Amino acid sequence: MLIKTPDLIKPSEITDRQLYLNRRKFIRAGANLGIAGALLNTLTISGALAATKLSTVKNRDYSTDEELTPYDAITSYNNFYEFGTHKSDPSENAGKFQPQPWSVVVDGECMKPGTYSYEDIINPHQLEERIYRLRCVEAWSMVIPWVGIALADVLKRFEPTSEAKYVAFTTVMRPEEMPGLRRRVLDWPYREGLRIDEAMHPLTLLTVGLYGEVLPNQNGAPIRLVVPWKYGFKSIKSIVRIEFTRKQPKTSWNMSAPQEYGFYSNVNPEVDHPRWSQRKERRIGDFLKRETLMFNGYGEQVASLYRGMDLRKHY
Ligand code: MTE
Repeated sequence: MLIKTPDLIKPSEITDRQLYLNRRKFIRAGANLGIAGALLNTLTISGALAATKLSTVKNRDYSTDEELTPYDAITSYNNFYEFGTHKSDPSENAGKFQPQPWSVVVDGECMKPGTYSYEDIINPHQLEERIYRLRCVEAWSMVIPWVGIALADVLKRFEPTSEAKYVAFTTVMRPEEMPGLRRRVLDWPYREGLRIDEAMHPLTLLTVGLYGEVLPNQNGAPIRLVVPWKYGFKSIKSIVRIEFTRKQPKTSWNMSAPQEYGFYSNVNPEVDHPRWSQRKERRIGDFLKRETLMFNGYGEQVASLYRGMDLRKHY
């Protein structure tokens, strides 16, 4: 018997997020009760809003089935210091930001350096939906249906050389559109980096959307990183430069407070932040805290990357 799975229904066929959410809940309930596909067909809805919709296929191998954090929370409770340091600042101040047209400079240890447009980098036919947990270093977490492309698939096209040991990422700096840049709370531009094997890991997502729509400005439009086993600050937003380097690159939070934020920043309940414990987290929307999982629950996939390393030293 063919059970129609959510994979066969594209987010582009849905008119709004509430329907998307309701349908997911229904599908989950249906799956639990053993209801077969015919019923689900009746929930397929043709959509308008084509301009902001993204056509995706869900990647089940890399998706959690935990309850999604509501769209409104994901898009109004943000860290994007270029728009201000309060959680509500990015959604309130990012309206002027122009994410299109967009280009990214690719340089360093690769055979195909250059300036690439958004369209050069993002092939819409490769887009996947992946539902990841995001664990912020501030001990809150969310579950987010991202839309993106495995970073490895993008990086390989630039043909990194054998000297490329790390990848460095830089965020755009546009003071006229990003009022938070007026204050030097960080040494702008925002910078992040990964070891090349972390960047090439299949879980690492170059992200362009969430909930089946293009990224809102406050979530890092038009291109951001999502590295689900690391604290949220590694997931750099609004990327304009990707550089392949021989040496470990400088990263914003590590430069700002090295004793608090290491280069690796893997989610690790065993290593406290100097000012608070990392043992527990509050899932946004929950009342009670829950235990934080090693590597944010992605240990099976990524623990081997760190075999033999002292994760207390390389925090
Ligand atoms: N990227 C830039 N350029 N500037 C930032 O301030 N904040 C980081 C990360 N990426 C940040 C950034 C932090 S601390 C977190 S927790 C996540 O973005 C938050 O992503 P979200 O707002 O989409 O949930």
